[in-house]
Amino acid sequence: MIRTRIMATGACVPEQIITNDDLSKIVDTSDEWISQRTGIRERRISAGENTSALAIGTAKQVIERAEISPEDVDLIIVASVTPDYGTPSLACMVQKELGMVNAVAFDVVAACSGFMFALSIADKYIKTGVYRNAVVIGAETLSKIVNWEDRTTCVLFGDGAGGAYVEASEEGGIIAEELGSKGELCDILTEGHTACDNAFNDESGDHDPKYYIYMDGRAVFKFAIKKVVESTRNVLAKADVDMEDIAYVIPHQANARIIDVVAHKLKMDDSKFYKNMEHYGNTSSASVPMALNELNEKGLIQRGDKIILTGFGGGMTWGTMLVEW
Ligand code: COA
Repeated sequence: MIRTRIMATGACVPEQIITNDDLSKIVDTSDEWISQRTGIRERRISAGENTSALAIGTAKQVIERAEISPEDVDLIIVASVTPDYGTPSLACMVQKELGMVNAVAFDVVAACSGFMFALSIADKYIKTGVYRNAVVIGAETLSKIVNWEDRTTCVLFGDGAGGAYVEASEEGGIIAEELGSKGELCDILTEGHTACDNAFNDESGDHDPKYYIYMDGRAVFKFAIKKVVESTRNVLAKADVDMEDIAYVIPHQANARIIDVVAHKLKMDDSKFYKNMEHYGNTSSASVPMALNELNEKGLIQRGDKIILTGFGGGMTWGTMLVEW
């Protein structure tokens, strides 16, 4: 059976490190509050790099590690809620910069579940034989849409990009997945709202304050735990795989406490849940591929291992995949 297999991973982050102590100089917060409530100690914040630069840096690393030529790439999908432009897409900017002249390129929006949605789309094209391979990326400069005066959100997010090169394979690959959307909860996490200003709208100029990230933290917390637990159970049941057979779970890196509760509810050992939010915070669609890349670079997963990738985010959305490495 043809499956979609992850052949190489990569990541790219801005150089500038902003610690919790740095944040306590601009908002009323402390290292103690942030690290105890979230597990985050520092994050990368753009000193000028826009999202395309991080996506391009990731794509370059991914194709070098996969040892393929840019012309051989069939499909580029970038997930992001912070693109440089409405158009061109980030995927087209990546295509141009790296000379992936034969690829089809487009972006998807599913907030922090974005990489999971993008990987799922690539999987369908590959499994059905439409394309042989894809570069799939999650990339964000959330620092552009964070309200730096709001201590309840600005301490949580960071900038970065991560991605993977996937191709058709008869061994390993994506075994089962669950994607989900619950639009009725769309107001609990929003960003980037633009007002309907135009020359014929009398209310032009009356801008909505929700351009910056707005979040009902407690509601998101509850949603995340419920959906990550349910979807992980569902995906394992679909594939008839036991929890004990999972080498690692790579969850969205929003909050260490969410991950600890999920591990407890799934009766899984904490140590199987990979965490790196300590250094990067929540990088939205980049978080799962950045963590996967780190795990891969450290040599912690071997071919044949079964892993779970799981993300949740605005929309509200979620996506969980069982992958044989
Ligand atoms: N520094 C210091 N105090 C802060 C603070 C900060 N950065 N942010 C909030 N506080 C204060 C609050 O004002 C509140 O004070 P009060 O009790 O005097 O009113 C107190 O800390 C507790 O706030 P609360 O919101 O109840 O904290 P919490 O334990 O729910 O943690 C989050 C807040 C945001 C960390 C938590 O709700 C969370 O992680 N939610 C999920 C977020 C998430 O996953 N988002 C990404 C989705 S993709």
